[in-house]
Amino acid sequence: MEFKKKILCIGAGYVGGPTMAVIALKCPEYRVDVVDISKERIDAWNSSSLPIYEPGLQEIVEDRRGKNLFFTTEVEKNIKNADIIFVSVNTPTKTFGEGAGMASDLQYWESTAHQIVKFAESDKIIVEKSTLPVRTAEAMERILKTHNGNIKFEVVSNPEFLAEGTAIKDLLEPDRVLIGAHKTQEGRKASKEIADIYKHWIPKRKIITTNLWSSELSKLIANAFLAQRISSINSISALCEKTDADISEIAHAIGSDSRIGEKFLQTSVGFGGSCFKKDILNLVYIAKSYGLYEVADYWESVVKMNEYQKSRFVRKIIKEMFNTVAGKKITLFGFSFKADTGDTRESPAIDITKALLNENAKVTIHDPKALKNAKLDLKDFDKDIIYDTDPYKAAEDANAIVITTEWSQFKELDYSIIFDSMKKPAFIFDGRNILDHNKLFDMGFNVYPTGKKQLTHFS
Ligand code: NAD
Ligand code: UGA
Repeated sequence: MEFKKKILCIGAGYVGGPTMAVIALKCPEYRVDVVDISKERIDAWNSSSLPIYEPGLQEIVEDRRGKNLFFTTEVEKNIKNADIIFVSVNTPTKTFGEGAGMASDLQYWESTAHQIVKFAESDKIIVEKSTLPVRTAEAMERILKTHNGNIKFEVVSNPEFLAEGTAIKDLLEPDRVLIGAHKTQEGRKASKEIADIYKHWIPKRKIITTNLWSSELSKLIANAFLAQRISSINSISALCEKTDADISEIAHAIGSDSRIGEKFLQTSVGFGGSCFKKDILNLVYIAKSYGLYEVADYWESVVKMNEYQKSRFVRKIIKEMFNTVAGKKITLFGFSFKADTGDTRESPAIDITKALLNENAKVTIHDPKALKNAKLDLKDFDKDIIYDTDPYKAAEDANAIVITTEWSQFKELDYSIIFDSMKKPAFIFDGRNILDHNKLFDMGFNVYPTGKKQLTHFS
């Protein structure tokens, strides 16, 4: 079949895979190739067991794969043939040299730029899909200009706002699509070509076009604002536990103000995921590099508050279990950084587990989708941890259950069976406030919600 346009995506991860699957679904006249340096990942995309779990993804991939959606490691041929190249490689926090622990590590991004220069034989639009520091496109353009042929590259920013666990829904019905381009004739033309892809299923009014730098920076700022809300509500959860005010009542009361809004006010054990911390630290680094130290301090406090919420949670567990968890079995319900994903990157459960092991607790972990990743994250502690796919078995003989992820399955469990099989006194620490605390208390549990009054049988 002759395709109208050839789209290439470099990077077959949590963003590249689902985004390209949806583009292939909605634009059947376009050919979409997704390449990655990891053969293992590409093999998984071509198998019945995809490398990532996302509700609705499997069906779309199975529908389009081999028709207009292809996963391959053939970088050279695909760069040659592509009209539009989305770059969706990882941009983790730098772990070495200047800016270590703060700045973005752009080595993967830069190597794709060099690959494009090496293999391109025709004009192309290069789309920044990865989250990048503001003005990265400038560096990209400098590298692309080293091409010795008469080829034109136009760099466009099109950051991705999907959240894991709801990626397919977010891609099918986004709040907005953002496209940043130079305000030149070529820039406008490239911006329109990218908008034309999305117009296949997204209303025009939801497609926002800006200059390149606003688009790059908006992505970092969106994540910073979202994370700031979580740190704000989590800081107040600590105050609630001291005053018997109730964090859910407060979230409802303030969220009903349309200027504040009700979303992202769910208190937790802290935010996780591969992006919030990395993007805020990158923002802090950028602000510092321009000498804006007060701006940097302001945003860094969002990350500090998140660290505080995680350590506060562990301190509460230890204190309430008579100041020691040594030798006690503690069962974590949940290990992924949020529900409906197997992703455990920066999951608060990692820090919580390590802190409990440090106190000589015996940790058992149950999670519906994340046990494989949990084992990788905790490989250095293998002999001290039990992983169980059955929540009832995981809870047997436990002194405490700790809810670390808000999986809806955990609400459906029969906690009277769990209570009967546990050591007494039985503790439950609900780091996500998803359970019926009064009911658990009536069963005999000592219940410790987050940002709410504790319910205990101790006098
Ligand atoms: P990921 O690690 O899951 O995927 C990146 C992929 O790129 C990896 O499979 C890696 O092997 C591949 N890669 C690296 N260098 C390559 C090269 N030179 N050629 C081919 N493949 C290469 O990362 P992700 O979670 O998909 O995130 C990608 C970007 O999108 C990041 O900048 C991230 O901040 C941003 N983002 C992520 C999310 C999310 O929910 N995960 C959401 C929005 C934006
Ligand atoms: C987040 C953003 O929501 C996306 O828009 C963005 O594209 C993405 O980061 C990214 O750039 O990677 P994601 O990290 O997948 O998406 O998931 P979120 O739903 O934002 O949750 C992040 C963390 O915050 C989770 O640990 C979650 O449990 C926690 N959270 C979220 C709370 O503690 N309380 C809330 O009210 C909401």
